[in-house]
Order: sequence, then C-alpha cells, then structure tokens
Amino acid sequence: MLAPVLRTTLLGAARNDALRRVVTTSPATRPVVARFVAGEDLTAAVRAVRELAGEGLRVCLDHLGEDTTSPAQARATVDAYRELFARLAAEGLAAGAEASVKLSALGQALPGGRRTSTDLAAELVAAAHEVGVLVTLDMEGSGTVDATLGTLRELRARFPTVGGVLQAMLRRTEDDCRDLAHPGSRVRLVKGAYAEPAALAHQDRAEVDRAYVRCLRVLVEGGAHPMVATHDLRLVRIAQDLLSRAGRGPEGYEFQMLYGIRTAEQRGLVAQGAPVRVYVPYGTDWYGYFVRRLAERPANVAFFLRSLTTR
Ligand code: FDA
Repeated sequence: MLAPVLRTTLLGAARNDALRRVVTTSPATRPVVARFVAGEDLTAAVRAVRELAGEGLRVCLDHLGEDTTSPAQARATVDAYRELFARLAAEGLAAGAEASVKLSALGQALPGGRRTSTDLAAELVAAAHEVGVLVTLDMEGSGTVDATLGTLRELRARFPTVGGVLQAMLRRTEDDCRDLAHPGSRVRLVKGAYAEPAALAHQDRAEVDRAYVRCLRVLVEGGAHPMVATHDLRLVRIAQDLLSRAGRGPEGYEFQMLYGIRTAEQRGLVAQGAPVRVYVPYGTDWYGYFVRRLAERPANVAFFLRSLTTR
C-alpha cells in the first residue's frame, strides 16, 4: 500500500470528474491502462478469456462501471452483462466462468436503489445461471457493506452459489466472516481497495495482513469456499499452509488475482496444481478501477506519470 496520505489523495481522485476527463481523454494513458484492463469492448475481453483459459487459468469478468447516476444506466449495465453471458455461451467459454458486479453500477445509491439494485442483480444472476456462469458481488466503500450483504443474503435464498466479497481492512469483517463461514458459501477475501477512516478500518498494513489471516482462518474452519484474492505472496503461502492443514483439495478453494498483476505467479500456482482465477475487467468506464490500481503501488504512479511526461 502507498503511504496513507498519498493513497487517500489518489483514491479521492477516483471520484473527481475533472481529473477523470483529463485522464480518460489523454492518449498517453492508454498503454498504462492496457496493463490492467483487457480492453474497451467485449471482443477484447473474450480474447483475453481465451488466452487465459489456454493457460489453465479460470476467469472472472467485470464489465467496468460504478456509481451509476440514473436508472437507465443501471438497466444498461444489466444488458451489458446479458450480452457478455450470451457471448461466453456462444464461444463455449461460459461453464465455470465467473462474473463480478458492483451494486453501485446497478443503482444501489439511487433513491430506492437498494430494492432496484437487488432486483436487477437477481435478473443478472438468473441470466448467468442459465449458461453456467457464477456471479460474485464486488464490495465497495464501507457505507455500502450492510446493503450489499443484505442483497447477497436475498440472492442466495434463490441462488446459493452467489459469491460475496469481504475486506480484511474493515474492523467488522471478522464478524462478517463468521456469518458467511458455512459450507457452500463462496467468499472472496481481499485486503480492501477504498480509503476508510481509522474508526472503521485498520490503517497499518501489518495489521491488515494479520486481520486477513484471522479472517481466512474463520472462513476455512467454518467450511466456506474461500476465494483468496491477493497478490501478497506471503499471504498466499500462509493460505496454502492453512488450506492444506484443513485437508482442502483444489475443489475447495481458489486463488484470485487481477489481470496484469503478478502474472508469472498466477501461472506458477497453476503449475503447482492450484486453482487460480484471473479477474478480467473490460469496458470504457475504466477510470475508477485504474486509479485504485495506481493507489495500490508507488511504482504504478511513477510509471504513469513518466508515461504522461515522456510523450
Ligand atoms: P498488497 O497491496 O500488499 O500487494 C502485494 C504485492 O502485490 C505488492 O507488493 C505488489 O508487488 C503486488 N501488487 C498489488 N497491487 C498491485 C498493483 N495495483 N499493481 C502492481 N502490483 C501490485 N477490493 C475491494 O475493496 N473490493 C473488491 O470487490 C475487490 N475485488 C478484488 C478481486 C480480486 C480478484 C483481487 C485480487 C482484488 C480485489 N480487490 C477488491 C482489491 C484488493 O482489496 C486490494 O486492493 C488489492 O488486491 C491489493 O492488495 P493485495 O492483497 O494484492 O496486497
């Protein structure tokens, strides 16, 4: 993680419209964005899926979008996912693939949005289910956790395979892990990508790491299906040890990493027989996702600034 002040500033920039316009219209940004985003359209996403599948990697597709400002935009998001599912099915790539969606892209923050986003998510999950695609609800800022877990509970009553995401940095998460730690419960455990106040979240990276291990232990001991989503190789090793001591085979968990990050290690884990899923974001609304990736690593910011100044 970057120094907290710089990280918070960058994460604030993720919601700054003026900066969004500058960054998204600069041609210099494109090559840097291409490291983290598979492409702006479905064809590029499918190409990436095919390549990853050829190397024994599973995929989780994210049609980029968040903070929807109108019901029409929320509807368009569901339609984009429907198009994705149809295309994956037509190309023989649907079975076992996963899709991730942010409830803010389905209008969660709009008036009455908790209901509408849950209904739209149910429609999206039903469409995914028909072609054998799993769905996981991404987790956003701490103010949305209760609503998102509520939607997850509702969806799971009809579709038990729907996955949720828990952020180890949040102080509440160990309790949330206990609630979700039961057989069949797919839970993606991440460190957390949003700027959160100290009252709600661990600020020190060693504390976040320790919380991650405690949460993982709760999930494994409770019989959940953990999706260990981190590029932190120390945590990967701890997870391998925990999972093997719990007698978990490759069908009982998976590692998850983001497209373009730790690519050699993704393949290395596959070579060891571990199940690895790569999160593949695509679409034109990549700004927020991109800024969060910059905020995770100082070298990314330096690389990005160099690319802007050397053209
Ligand atoms: P950490 O940040 O400590 O990184 C460990 C090492 O990994 C770094 O030293 C570096 O080498 C490498 N690395 C990490 N990030 C990098 C980057 N951006 N560029 C280059 N190298 C990098 N968060 C959230 O709040 N809600 C969510 O729904 C999700 N969903 C999600 C899905 C998947 C599949 C993953 C892997 C992650 C998420 N996240 C997320 C993001 C997560 O919360 C976290 O911000 C990042 O994974 C970075 O944390 P690490 O665990 O990788 O550790």
